[in-house]
Amino acid sequence: MRPPGRCGVPRASPALLLLTLLVPLLWAPRGVGAGAGAGAPSELRVRVRLPDGQVTEESLQADSDADSISLELRKPDGTLISFTADFKKDVKIFRALILGELEKGQSQFQALCFVTRLHHNEIIPSEAMAKLRQKNPRAVRQAEEVRGPEQMHMDIAVNFSQGALLSPHLRNVCAEAVDAIYTRQEDVRFWLEQGVDGSVFEALPKASEQVLLPRCGHVGDRGKPCICRYGLSLAWYPCMLKYCHGRDRPAPYKCGIRSCQKNYSFDFYVPQKQLPGTHCPSPSRQRGCPPPPTTEALALFLPIT
Ligand SMILES: *[C@@H]1O[C@H](CO)[C@@H](O)[C@H](O)[C@H]1NC(C)=O
Ligand SMILES: *[C@@H]1O[C@H](CO)[C@@H](O)[C@H](O)[C@H]1NC(C)=O
Repeated sequence: MRPPGRCGVPRASPALLLLTLLVPLLWAPRGVGAGAGAGAPSELRVRVRLPDGQVTEESLQADSDADSISLELRKPDGTLISFTADFKKDVKIFRALILGELEKGQSQFQALCFVTRLHHNEIIPSEAMAKLRQKNPRAVRQAEEVRGPEQMHMDIAVNFSQGALLSPHLRNVCAEAVDAIYTRQEDVRFWLEQGVDGSVFEALPKASEQVLLPRCGHVGDRGKPCICRYGLSLAWYPCMLKYCHGRDRPAPYKCGIRSCQKNYSFDFYVPQKQLPGTHCPSPSRQRGCPPPPTTEALALFLPIT
């Protein structure tokens, strides 16, 4: 088996021959099958290794009509992380559904939504994602590249009832986080230039004032404003297309993906510490030693187009 990332093989390899055999079976062009299902989102379920070594299942959905991708994974502590890329609106949405600690009187779960500008080179296009298939669904995948962590200061609130003006996905994705949808001044400036209505955004205390606020972990009093931090990891996502050269083809063609892992952390303003609708999660508990890496080297392939 060729190692992933080596695509410059000039002649058809066994993997490519296998691919051409698999493609007619696996690639159902849009409109084939149930009539009502034309353009329906496609789903890929992959097993991924989290940064702490544990394995979880991740679901990746692509909707090429809506030009969007969504990714969902459950962490071992039960937290559900989701990521939505809306290419039409240059919006990406991170959502965390965090299980509450009932014995501490917290509600069943709490939700946070972080909305920032999507740059189109962050993840592969939805149309390519929709064609992605895997040959070995049992394989545990580990990202080929770890991208540098990104730390964001979320200094603007998003008004949920106006959210559809920013992205139609917001209504579904952030429905549980109505009072905890955050974005950033710099992204708001970009969207306003794109014609998004200003009523979507609500000012929080200015960044300069927020700097003076304590970290929520250091505030004793409930009811006092503070700054929380929440970190999450996109354990595995297709971040780039790979191109191959074929003997019989004049131009390079798409033949696979490169996978990435990236951590994000968000600082956000909480008007009143630990009231319903706000959540300042405790630092995640690390557990156990990571199992040794496997020799899994099965690439994902895109059908030849
Ligand atoms: C990403 O976050 C995880 C915890 O979620 C941590 O174990 C890992 O070391 C972080 N990786 C980087 C590159 O910061
Ligand atoms: C959100 O927007 C609606 C409609 O403009 C407005 O009535 C409502 O007061 C806003 N919510 C907040 C919390 O400002």
